[in-house]
Amino acid sequence: MKEQLEEILAEVQKSVGEIHLRPAFESFKATISGPKGKLTEAMKGMRDVPKEAKPAIGKLINETKQAIEEHYENTLSRIEQAEMAARLGPAIDPTLPAPDRAPGGLHPLTQTRRRVVDIFRKIGFTVAESPELETEWFCFDALNTPDDHPARDAQDTLFLNKETAVTNVSRHGDDPSKEAYVLRTHTSSVQIRTMLAEEPPLRIVAPGRVFRRDTVDATHSANFHQFEGLYIDRNVSVVDLKAVLDHFVREIFGDKVETRLRPSFFPFTEPSFEMDIRSANLGKLSNKWMEIMGCGIVDPEVLKAVGIDSEVWSGYAFGMGIERIAMIQHGIDDIRHFYQNDLRFLKQFA
Ligand code: DAH
Repeated sequence: MKEQLEEILAEVQKSVGEIHLRPAFESFKATISGPKGKLTEAMKGMRDVPKEAKPAIGKLINETKQAIEEHYENTLSRIEQAEMAARLGPAIDPTLPAPDRAPGGLHPLTQTRRRVVDIFRKIGFTVAESPELETEWFCFDALNTPDDHPARDAQDTLFLNKETAVTNVSRHGDDPSKEAYVLRTHTSSVQIRTMLAEEPPLRIVAPGRVFRRDTVDATHSANFHQFEGLYIDRNVSVVDLKAVLDHFVREIFGDKVETRLRPSFFPFTEPSFEMDIRSANLGKLSNKWMEIMGCGIVDPEVLKAVGIDSEVWSGYAFGMGIERIAMIQHGIDDIRHFYQNDLRFLKQFA
């Protein structure tokens, strides 16, 4: 009987290591400890053991049962752990740092705006801001724009109903009929607000959103972004204007760029110019003249409107579209890409 028990224990010892699944474990256990199992059968042999040997064999049986039980328990807990791991998936080490998510990136227009601001900040300009909702006076009158100028046409400019407009925009000017509200059509209104708020000399740039009553196509958007500049000091000339703009253009488009000032007209500058650029280094846009901004010497009428003595002070101003700069920088041929939130487009700038 002793050998029989030792054999059974040896078999259990040997077999449990090879069992990995619960059903296999249960059926193996039945072959040992079940009603017809080997251990159960062996124990029946107790009947035939001589009386004096019974205590020793009884002890051996108990020890064997205990050892087998321990093997069962170990096997079962190993199986349970495997089952849990299978449910949890691959092993997780909670002490490791989380895997990197794809890092975000700035919108191309934000990148261009920041780049432009940086270039001007380095040469002493500060950033100015003013409301997107303006009165007609700030957007047009103070900028020497005549009443019958086409820009004031309801076909071009988004006027707001006085009742629905936010009313914290203060009115300047004497004619109450001029108190119409508009969504600013250009950032040039920031010139007026800055000159009213601060004493010259002045050196500001103003990036911001502007609005026009335009039908959206590849080059037009009813809502886009501009970048305004204003410099007021004594004895300012076109040479100062050209020097600063040439510096800006070379910084943003590279050293190869050539510039030219072409005579133009804006109500708020006299003389007025369009600045064109040409470069051998602009991909598809290489070697052709492209208009990039309007500029000029601040018209004395504008200085008069804000109470600055034009006998003492003079200045230059410029304004450009941020979309346009970004489109030239990157060779983008459709303005709508900027607003569609298509990651395939945006990721190229991240
Ligand atoms: N405000 C003009 C526009 O929206 C751009 C512009 C032209 C701004 C000449 C200026 C300037 O400051 O001097 O088309």
